[in-house]
Amino acid sequence: MAPIITTTIAETRRVLAAARAQGKTIGLVPTMGALHAGHRSLIEAARDETGFIAVSIFVNPTQFGPKEDLSRYPRHFEKDVELCAATGVDLIFHPTPEIMYPSAFKTYVEVADLQDVLCGQSRPGHFRGVATVVLKLFNIVQPDVAFFGQKDAQQSRILIQMVRDLDVPVQMRICPIVREPDGLALSSRNVHLDATQRRNATVLHRSLEAMRAQIEAGETQAEPLIALGRSMIEATPGTKLDYLAIVDFDQMQPLERLQGKALIALAVYFGTTRLIDNIVMQVATRSPSASG
Ligand code: PAJ
Repeated sequence: MAPIITTTIAETRRVLAAARAQGKTIGLVPTMGALHAGHRSLIEAARDETGFIAVSIFVNPTQFGPKEDLSRYPRHFEKDVELCAATGVDLIFHPTPEIMYPSAFKTYVEVADLQDVLCGQSRPGHFRGVATVVLKLFNIVQPDVAFFGQKDAQQSRILIQMVRDLDVPVQMRICPIVREPDGLALSSRNVHLDATQRRNATVLHRSLEAMRAQIEAGETQAEPLIALGRSMIEATPGTKLDYLAIVDFDQMQPLERLQGKALIALAVYFGTTRLIDNIVMQVATRSPSASG
């Protein structure tokens, strides 16, 4: 069945109230559209766990910096509706910026510290925009379960913190990264890559995998791992490294020596297109008394 498409908050709440009255659990997949197999995996996870799937499609202006790609962010609503119809989405919430941010809008959500590192360093204000719009979506849809991707690891970590700190009654699910056969993580921004950039873009995944192999071979110092990844990216024509960092997953602070749950994350520019990727490694912590 074709999904119901709503644009206003009142309509959206009416549709959801009817679904809730039928005893259905509500799943929410927030997106900015230009849907691909990564988004589809979140919709499928929602289908497995909930009885009514809402997908929001909203290119959120408050998470784009003044020099960023808001105006050229890909938008293909008709195609998105087709993907939603094919995957059993019940409701598409597709508001305008004026509906989400009326002229009197003044309230923003900030998740201190976590918002300032990694992508937050090169995109000041980005996570404030993300947290604000996602809390609004949670308040509009009031989902039982919400689905996000590990692709945006820092975003997911920040939103989990927000839900915990602000007592939002929603369960958070973080789904694995969906990749192209050659390893490139799917992203709405991949369409901006020309053929050469597209070929070279596999260096994100290849450098992460090279670091993983070193860790599996016993490397625990962050510095040589970062040097390895950096050299692979710098050796790839047309790239500009934004950051490559190894941080602890909980606090997102740099680790000198890997231990516990470590996030290895990077952002690389190909021309004006900025791509991100990451892996999470669970590194066994040796007790100080252990020998060898
Ligand atoms: P968007 O980039 O459209 O991504 C929507 C969701 O899809 C995010 O949770 C993201 O992590 C997930 N996703 C994207 N690519 C993926 C991939 N290759 N594999 C698995 N999941 C993937 O992230 C946003 O939109 C926005 O910041 C949003 C949360 C909607 C707030 O505006």
